[in-house]
Amino acid sequence: MPDQSHALNAERTSLLDSLRRRAVADLEHCETSAALTRWTSQYLGRQDGEVNAILRGMKDIPGPERKAVGQAANELKGELEALASARRTVIVTRELAAQLARETIDVTLPGRDLPLGGLHPITRTIRDICDIFSAMGFQVIEGPEVETDYYNFQALNIPADHPARDMQDTFWVDPGQILLRTQTSPNQIRIMEQTSPPVRAVVPGKVYRNEAIDATHEAMFHQIEGLLIDEVTTMRDLRGCVERFAREIFSEQTKVRFRPSYFPFTEPSAEVDVTCIVCKGSGCRVCKQSGWVEIGGSGMVHPQVLRNVHYDPAVYRGFAFGIGVERIAMMRYGINEIRLFSQNDLRFLNQF
Ligand code: DAH
Repeated sequence: MPDQSHALNAERTSLLDSLRRRAVADLEHCETSAALTRWTSQYLGRQDGEVNAILRGMKDIPGPERKAVGQAANELKGELEALASARRTVIVTRELAAQLARETIDVTLPGRDLPLGGLHPITRTIRDICDIFSAMGFQVIEGPEVETDYYNFQALNIPADHPARDMQDTFWVDPGQILLRTQTSPNQIRIMEQTSPPVRAVVPGKVYRNEAIDATHEAMFHQIEGLLIDEVTTMRDLRGCVERFAREIFSEQTKVRFRPSYFPFTEPSAEVDVTCIVCKGSGCRVCKQSGWVEIGGSGMVHPQVLRNVHYDPAVYRGFAFGIGVERIAMMRYGINEIRLFSQNDLRFLNQF
């Protein structure tokens, strides 16, 4: 029946027309790739797309009409695809331009510096101290951190039952035999065993003591040992040498004071103080208001120590000293907390 089929046809055509109008209007509102993707799946989607829904529904349409409707639907599909593709070009171009504007790169900027490491303030201080003694003719030598009881104590005139052992609470590896050195002094023995006089050497390095840790005490710290042996050296030379060192490392105004003291491996022995570089001697917290700060011990090498290494004390004589590196670094850089040295905190280390 032609009338009825004509009516059906008109109905389907107007369905396609309104679909076209809706799709075109929606497309004009698509401003982003994401919106366009949503639009594409709504209208042209293989599964649920509206155009395909019409094409799928065609199996219900009688033969002659099916062709016409199919053709119209396919045309609509092609038309919408072309419109979408044109729209995509516009959107992509616009989005790319926006992205480029957002992500401008100034290729003329200089590159970023790689962070370079620096020397730890203790390493720096040790090197400076060694440079000063090198200039005075001292060799720089290193020795083992794990020592024997013999080198750390006995050969330095500190027998097993000697009360001086109580001054240095020791970390034992093998009790009574092997230990972490409590001082750099065992290198006095090692050097003298290996060379004949004259001797002029300094030995920097780590030492270990079972200390109660606080702002000025650590269980691991650094010393520099000094040893000079010849046939004529006196305590005046020791004094001059230490004074020269103090003035080089701090300032020419620095004064040195020797305080009588006791070490089993030196006789006489003296504690070495320098005028506080923070207050210049007038009294402050660093020097506990005394104006002086102790930097180490020293003395004339004990004849028994010389005999222990088969040096004849009737012929040879010399002096020795041991300097605390942390003390010196703390004064030089104005640091009031010794634990900062071993905490590996970049906020502290970056300052050097
Ligand atoms: N070794 C001593 C200590 O750690 C310091 C010392 C004192 C070293 C006198 C010396 C010296 O060479 O002569 O307490």
